[in-house]
Amino acid sequence: MKKHVVILAAAVLVVSIMAAYAATDALVGACIYKFDDTFMTGVRNAMRAEMERQGGELEIVDSQNRQPMQNDQVDAYISKGANALIVNPVDRTAAEPLMNKAKADGLPIVFINREPYAEVMNAYDKIWYVGAKAEESGTQSGQIIVDYFKAHPEADRNKDGKIQYIMIRGEQGHQDATLRTEYSTKAIKDGGFEIVELGNDTANWDKVQATDKMKGFISAVGVDAIEAVLANNDDMALGAIEALKAEGYNLGDASKYIPVVGVDATAPALEAMSKGEMLGTVLNDADNQGIAAVKVAVVAADGGEVTEQSIGYSITDGKYIWIPYRPVTVENYKEFMK
Ligand code: GAL
Ligand code: CA
Repeated sequence: MKKHVVILAAAVLVVSIMAAYAATDALVGACIYKFDDTFMTGVRNAMRAEMERQGGELEIVDSQNRQPMQNDQVDAYISKGANALIVNPVDRTAAEPLMNKAKADGLPIVFINREPYAEVMNAYDKIWYVGAKAEESGTQSGQIIVDYFKAHPEADRNKDGKIQYIMIRGEQGHQDATLRTEYSTKAIKDGGFEIVELGNDTANWDKVQATDKMKGFISAVGVDAIEAVLANNDDMALGAIEALKAEGYNLGDASKYIPVVGVDATAPALEAMSKGEMLGTVLNDADNQGIAAVKVAVVAADGGEVTEQSIGYSITDGKYIWIPYRPVTVENYKEFMK
C-alpha cells in the first residue's frame, strides 16, 4: 500500500514537472548584427542554451554588419513561418521597417542590444526590447577609476590634481557608445576629480582598431602623460592594453602601470584582470540578456501574455526588459569567470 502511494506521488510529481516545462514547438528566427563580436557571441550562446531548455527551435543568422542583408533575413524568416523574431539590428535607426514587417504579419518581435527609437517601440503591441541601461555601465566604469585614484594618489603622475585620460569609443550612433562615454566621465567628475582629455576616438568595439588608435595617441602625447584609459567595451580596452604593453607598461612593474577600464566582463578581460593588466570592467550580462530574449519570444510565440510571471524578469512600460550591469573589480572578478 505504502509503495503504491509513493509511486503515485512520484508520478504526480513527474507529470507536474512536465507541465511546468511543457516544451514549446515555436520556431524563433534570430538575426545578430555580426557574429564576429565577442559580447554578442556570449548573448548568442545564452540564447541557444535557453532554447534547448525550452525545447523549441531557434535559428540564428549572421547579418554581417549589413542592414539590407538583415532586412532580407527577416523576410526569409517570415516566409518560412517563424513564430517570433529576435533582432539585434545592424543600425538601430533602421528598426522601423523591421517592426513593420512583423506588424503586417502579427508576429512578435524582440529587439536586443541596439535600442530602437521610442516611436518605433510604441507603434506596435507585440514588440519588446531586451538590453541594459548604458548610463549605468558608464557610471560604474567611471567609479572604478575614482576608487583607484583615491586609493592610489601616485596615479596622478604629473601631480596636477587632474586625471589625464584617453577615451576609446564604440560604434558611432550606438546608444552604449554615446552614454558610456558621457556617464563615465561624469562619474569621475562627480567623484571629485578634474579631468583632462588627451585623446578621444572611436574603434568600433574592435580590439585591433583600438590598438591602432591607442598607438596613435601614445605617439601624439607620450605614454607618460596618460593616467587612465576608458574604453566603451572590453575588446577595445584589451586593444589599448596591447599598445601599452608594447611600451613596457601594464606588464607587472607597478611604476609602469596605467589603469584601463572596459565594459562587458568578457572572458579575455577577466583573464587580463587576473594578470593585473587591466583595472576593471562592468558586467554586461550576456547570459541574462540572451535568456530573457528567448523567454519573451517563446511566450509571445505561443500566444501567451508576456508578464513578469511568465518570463521571470521585470518589465518596464510593458515592453522593456532591463538587465542590470555590475561593477567588476579585482575584489570580485573571480565570481564572473566561467
Ligand atoms: C555592447 C557591447 C559591445 C558590443 C556592442 C554590439 O553592448 O558592450 O561589446 O558587443 O554591444 O552592439
Ligand atoms: Ca594628472
